[in-house]
Amino acid sequence: MGKDVIIACDFSSREEVLDFLGKFKEEKPFVKIGMELFYAEGPEIVRTIKAMGHRIFLDLKLHDIPNTVKKAMSVLSGLDIDMCNVHAAGTKAMMRAAVEGLTRPDGTRPLLIAVTQLTSTSEEMMRGELLIGAPVKETVMHYAKNAMEAGLDGVVCSPLEAGEVHAACGERFITVTPGVRFAGGDVGDQKRVTTPERARELGADYIVVGRPVTQDADPVAAYLRCVDAFVRGK
Ligand code: C5P
Repeated sequence: MGKDVIIACDFSSREEVLDFLGKFKEEKPFVKIGMELFYAEGPEIVRTIKAMGHRIFLDLKLHDIPNTVKKAMSVLSGLDIDMCNVHAAGTKAMMRAAVEGLTRPDGTRPLLIAVTQLTSTSEEMMRGELLIGAPVKETVMHYAKNAMEAGLDGVVCSPLEAGEVHAACGERFITVTPGVRFAGGDVGDQKRVTTPERARELGADYIVVGRPVTQDADPVAAYLRCVDAFVRGK
């Protein structure tokens, strides 16, 4: 599995994201487009960024009845994205339907990964509100196995869980890991953070990096620092 750095483009307008990406002259980073930008600008922003030569992870975290997810995925597959996702909590039936919907008539499809347990959900909330008694780690591993059995390509998880996910689901099962910060950098609202160097050691396949790149005075240099450390091991 080739490692790569994905920049979380958490902007709310076309102007802001294009201004940001315009700083990249040589490189064409893999970018993540989330709900904020997609809901603000619609599918056209995906087409625009794709036409600029970037690979795209469309992070919309679908979770609905299988038929609805299948149909929505079939629309997204027409956008020529490279990766998208669903909530594993939607069940294996929903995840299988997502794979079906995403598969194009020629048999190709974007990578499909699953969100296991959102990091904003604590074990206390799981027990008290959601009536899920198992520990977070066990839920994450169980959801990862469900995703694998449903035919998905991987999961979003913490770099700290990447090794265990690979052990349970195989080395080819992709781990996409947010919560990355440079040593000594601003942590922001992330609780458990990992450096790009450590994420590499832990076996993550993709790191998703937002603010450490987007808010840097020199985003291209910050991105290249991530690539050197995570992809090249320098
Ligand atoms: O700015 P920062 O590097 O914290 O951005 C991380 C990105 O990864 C954001 O787009 C955030 O929504 C996403 N993410 C996360 N933690 C998760 C799932 C997604 O930080 N568990």
